[in-house]
Amino acid sequence: MPEASPASTQELERAALDSLAAAKSESEIEEWRIEYLGRRGVLSTRLRSIGTLPPEVRREAGADLNRLKNRLCNAFDEAAQHVSESKRDFAPGDAIDITLPGRRSNLGGLHPSEMMMREILDVFNDMGFQTVEGPIVELEKYNFDMLNVPADHPARDLQDTLWIDRNSDERVLLRTQTSPMQIRTMEKQKPPVRIVSPGLCFRHEATDATHEWQFHQIEGLAVDEGVTMADLKGTLYEFARRIFGTQRKIRFRCDYFPFVEPGVDVSVDWDGRWVEIMGAGMVHPKVLEGVGYDPAKYTGFAFGMGPERIAMLRYNIEDIRHFFSNDLRFLSQF
Ligand code: DAH
Repeated sequence: MPEASPASTQELERAALDSLAAAKSESEIEEWRIEYLGRRGVLSTRLRSIGTLPPEVRREAGADLNRLKNRLCNAFDEAAQHVSESKRDFAPGDAIDITLPGRRSNLGGLHPSEMMMREILDVFNDMGFQTVEGPIVELEKYNFDMLNVPADHPARDLQDTLWIDRNSDERVLLRTQTSPMQIRTMEKQKPPVRIVSPGLCFRHEATDATHEWQFHQIEGLAVDEGVTMADLKGTLYEFARRIFGTQRKIRFRCDYFPFVEPGVDVSVDWDGRWVEIMGAGMVHPKVLEGVGYDPAKYTGFAFGMGPERIAMLRYNIEDIRHFFSNDLRFLSQF
């Protein structure tokens, strides 16, 4: 029988793999490689001797040996990797050199929207407002109806709404504002109420430098006996002083929001220009009635602001779309 016949190839393979399995260290594995796969190793010798075989079996024998060589090469790679991995973990005597400088891992940071929101919430928390969070997917009645925005109200057109397709009596949407948390909170508790509620909102907008289809809002609500417009102003002055500095001027102007009466928009002085930063007002009696509060006994104020808007002023960010584009060149500046 010729030397490189299929049977002897199989035997050779078994012997080779057995001895590879017995090799435990890098140097033993290297010795094995030289013995079997080296230039003068077993396989090369056999391949060279193919020329001495009868012509009709040469082709077959050569292919056979080459396949074996491939298998042994793979087995070698695997064994080498295995040994180097276990060496990395445990090899005795392979002490860690503690004088080497450490490898610094990349630390993440807070998103600028999140940073801004935490700062704003801190201000209100200090004034006794409790932070509450609500659902992003919201019922129509909380986002609109109970905020005094019935189905045919023109104010709905200002908030191009993303509706959720669902077979049910109650219509569901991605909330267009955080104001529904006013209702959810008042339904659950009796006055006094003092909450701030941050979260994502969505509108079906064409985007530009000041409009994004998703953005954050922070809602605020205070209801108790005897709450007046002076409380609203005092609270928001304090907010502006803490966020924009004690010298910053702010301005209240009449505005319309269906769930407050009177309603105001609040602007800050920015290099001689008034920039609107939030809407606010005294909670509409219909809203109070709707949640079972007696409007003859209780009054309250509410406000809603966009933290991205405030961060844009604060950090001179020219385009709101930066906040949601996930570009590290932007995000890592904060
Ligand atoms: N939710 C309003 C908006 O998105 C903002 C707002 C205005 C909230 C007045 C209020 C408020 O609580 O009193 O346009």
